[in-house]
Amino acid sequence: MKKITVIGAGNVGATCANVIAHKELAKEIVLIDIKEGVAEGKALDIWQTSSINNFNTRLTGSTNDYLKTKGSGIIVITSGLPRKPGMSRDDLIRTNAIIVKEVAEKAIKYSPEAIIIIVSNPLDVMTYTAYLATHKSPNRVFGMAGILDTGRYKAFLAEALNVSPKDIHAMLLGGHGDTMVPLPRYTSVGGIPVTELLDKDEIDKIVERTRKGGGELVNLMGTSAWYAPGAGAAQMVEAIVDDQHRILPVCAYLTGEFGLKDVYIGVPVILGAEGVEKIIEINLNENEMKLLHDSAESIKQTMTALDDMHLFGEPEEK
Ligand code: LAC
Repeated sequence: MKKITVIGAGNVGATCANVIAHKELAKEIVLIDIKEGVAEGKALDIWQTSSINNFNTRLTGSTNDYLKTKGSGIIVITSGLPRKPGMSRDDLIRTNAIIVKEVAEKAIKYSPEAIIIIVSNPLDVMTYTAYLATHKSPNRVFGMAGILDTGRYKAFLAEALNVSPKDIHAMLLGGHGDTMVPLPRYTSVGGIPVTELLDKDEIDKIVERTRKGGGELVNLMGTSAWYAPGAGAAQMVEAIVDDQHRILPVCAYLTGEFGLKDVYIGVPVILGAEGVEKIIEINLNENEMKLLHDSAESIKQTMTALDDMHLFGEPEEK
């Protein structure tokens, strides 16, 4: 791909740009931030690893000059405040909705054809915000959370079983928050259902640790994670650039799938050059379906806070 823009040169954005560069997924990466010099500095620093790490991808940084992003095929939005200890992702809505709306509008002006990947929190509602701000088809605006959450789940399982994380396949649904829905029934290890390898208690503990996985890191570091979030977004970029048709959990817009409508939430999709090419409506039992609907309900509550901000004008009379 000719150009990829990463908005927000904080830890997540810079890590994402770094992984994209290592994989040479674009000829050029533009890193952009509002803080004077930060994007320029990080882009320069990563670019100076090119001969060491053997990649050709050029990196340029810019303080808020969106003209530099012109003609990007993919825009990754990581802007916004990260969580501090004691905060939930939803606490960020007021600041981050304004930021995400503004950067999405500016970016789309110069790259109207771009696919947009949102990483900012609260993820599901920020993805919805970018969708409203860009007026694009929802298969070209979606969010990264499921790859991060399944990444954590797989890491914990690999540790518990003392096996390679590469052999673990897993699916996780729902919002990026404590209501996420890890699905042990759809988790396999080298083709063996995980339920045959670990007892229910052990699986339950891992599921619970996964749900709180972001918070565990916020408590350890005083701010939120970046290596796994950045790499997760880069994996989505790779699936799109190489038209891989990977099956990945993505925060996608539902129009009736799983009995849910007009909500962005994590579901399995096929991801390729056109973005979300298909939502895979897997079979859920009663309990799994309830957990998914509870998760959607919690996202809709956060969406109410977004509506109350009236960022997109008053709702039309029905
Ligand atoms: C996390 C933040 C980035 O889960 O949402 O680490």
